[in-house]
Amino acid sequence: MRVPEHVAIILDGNGRWAKSKGMPRSYGHMKGCANLESICDDVKDLGIRYFTVYAFSTENWKRSRDEVEGLMKLFRSYLKRCLKIADRNKMQVKVIGDITAFDPDIQESIRVLEDYSSKYNELYFQIALNYGSRDEMIRGIRSLARDVRDGRLNPEIIDEKIFEGYLDTAGVPDPDLLIRTSGELRLSNFLMWQLAYTEFYFTDVPWPDFNRDELVKAIETYNIRDRRYGGVKEE
Ligand code: FPP
Repeated sequence: MRVPEHVAIILDGNGRWAKSKGMPRSYGHMKGCANLESICDDVKDLGIRYFTVYAFSTENWKRSRDEVEGLMKLFRSYLKRCLKIADRNKMQVKVIGDITAFDPDIQESIRVLEDYSSKYNELYFQIALNYGSRDEMIRGIRSLARDVRDGRLNPEIIDEKIFEGYLDTAGVPDPDLLIRTSGELRLSNFLMWQLAYTEFYFTDVPWPDFNRDELVKAIETYNIRDRRYGGVKEE
């Protein structure tokens, strides 16, 4: 089995999974969080080098106050526990998205986790928090425009490579495989620039039930696809 270098997952279905069990949505998020920890170990074990997950979108603030508060609590504890997961998997962690919207203690936990894990390079793990692809591009363009205005960047030399350097994912190769759990067939404003040539895999399995076997199934499906890139078929 050829393992993709970079796998991205839209974590979806915690709420419906919990409801189907007669439990509150917060229970689904708790299980989803535990599942993220175990999938991270599987990702490392399978030899995937880059792993990106969509955990909280710029739109998710619109959920009920209770749910958002519950998620913040979960992020607080997860970001702390993630130091151990980073050690275990020799994993460098980076949060993508506009983190300035989070409470100062969450922003501090993110900085601590990123600094602490920067010594590792066996797995690169990106967590999208308050992330939206349009927001990422607008923030990038603002910063690019400032560099042009201040004479640091010549507009005539701007190309794809230079633009990518202004995105949150700068320096990270584009995903080879995108997985979305729980049946929805949408991108939901996730990595729209970076997914231009990515293979998509959609499954009805809700995120809390998405285990190593499901991940392997997704990779096997990816393996039997033609990777054409608009050019000549790979041999
Ligand atoms: C999607 O399910 C999940 C979320 C928007 C919540 C975020 C993800 C987790 C809690 C996993 C852990 C991640 C971290 C970084 C701790 P949904 O609520 O959209 O489910 P539904 O579509 O069934 O309502």
